[in-house]
Amino acid sequence: MNVNLQNEMTGLDIFEQINKLKCEKNAVILAHYYQDADIQDVADFIGDSLALAQQAAKTDAQMIVFAGVHFMAETAKILNPSKKVVMPDINAGCSLADSCPADKFAEFKKKHPGAVVISYINCTAEVKTLSDIICTSSNAEKIIKSIPAEREIIFAPDRNMGAYLMKKTGRDMLLWDGSCMVHELFSLEKISNLKEQHPGAKLIAHPECEEPILKIADMIGSTSAMLKFTQVDSGSAYIVATETGILHQMMLASPKKTFIPAPPDNSCACNDCPHMKLNTLEKLYQCMRDEKPEIVLPPELMKNAEAPIRRMLELSAN
Ligand code: 13P
Ligand code: SF4
Repeated sequence: MNVNLQNEMTGLDIFEQINKLKCEKNAVILAHYYQDADIQDVADFIGDSLALAQQAAKTDAQMIVFAGVHFMAETAKILNPSKKVVMPDINAGCSLADSCPADKFAEFKKKHPGAVVISYINCTAEVKTLSDIICTSSNAEKIIKSIPAEREIIFAPDRNMGAYLMKKTGRDMLLWDGSCMVHELFSLEKISNLKEQHPGAKLIAHPECEEPILKIADMIGSTSAMLKFTQVDSGSAYIVATETGILHQMMLASPKKTFIPAPPDNSCACNDCPHMKLNTLEKLYQCMRDEKPEIVLPPELMKNAEAPIRRMLELSAN
């Protein structure tokens, strides 16, 4: 904690202060499963990207405090143009969203006139304006299946998830060549070794992982689907191939089970998203106190990006 903040906070509990600010400012804290445990513990709602967008769409709070990455807070702002949306660290971006620059994507789209554009929510507001419908890892299958069979589909920006969905749905799709730095790092060799060391452990993986990892996975799904699986499954140990923040909720929900973070292809033992982890409890407190950094977007951009997000929400209503 920096010295100024420490002086200001002397004798005060940061959790208490955050809760006080929540009431004073009629704020709601939405946090993604990849956030630090402290942030998850103080949040009003923890979820995957679909559940967080759904919460943002229905909240009546005055201020939305988004503990996640930029595209998530941006989505909350697009759904609430008149509300203040702040996030702990405005530099918390996403390598997957960065892998799809809007100008390049517009050129790609131009080459396939008539194709329906389905974009994964991990993209910028500009890419959303070029999309017909947004999806997340929770609802992508349903959304692809809602498109008439004769229509060509462009799926962006994640090539791993796109390839996985092509297999799942049997639909041929034109894939944008993007990926997530966190999910591409998992080591097949180390995971295979772990499986040998823990023969009873099930490998559960996020669809952003590369094909060789998905091929040996016992279960593939969004963060919320992975969490749910560990709660209802009869197994007792899981190798978790996604960002490590999710382990906090898994351990809280199933304290008697064992959760092993899948190791990446480097010297680390677990796979943290460097963008998600830019947010800290202190920055969360400061952004609520100062009501900044704030997400500010041009009204025209918000208007154009809203329609494909609303289409997703309508299709995911039940
Ligand atoms: P979920 O939608 O499964 O929470 O995934 C979000 C994400 O950023 C995955 O890397
Ligand atoms: Fe983006 Fe990957 Fe981090 Fe998710 S884990 S926010 S896709 S960089």
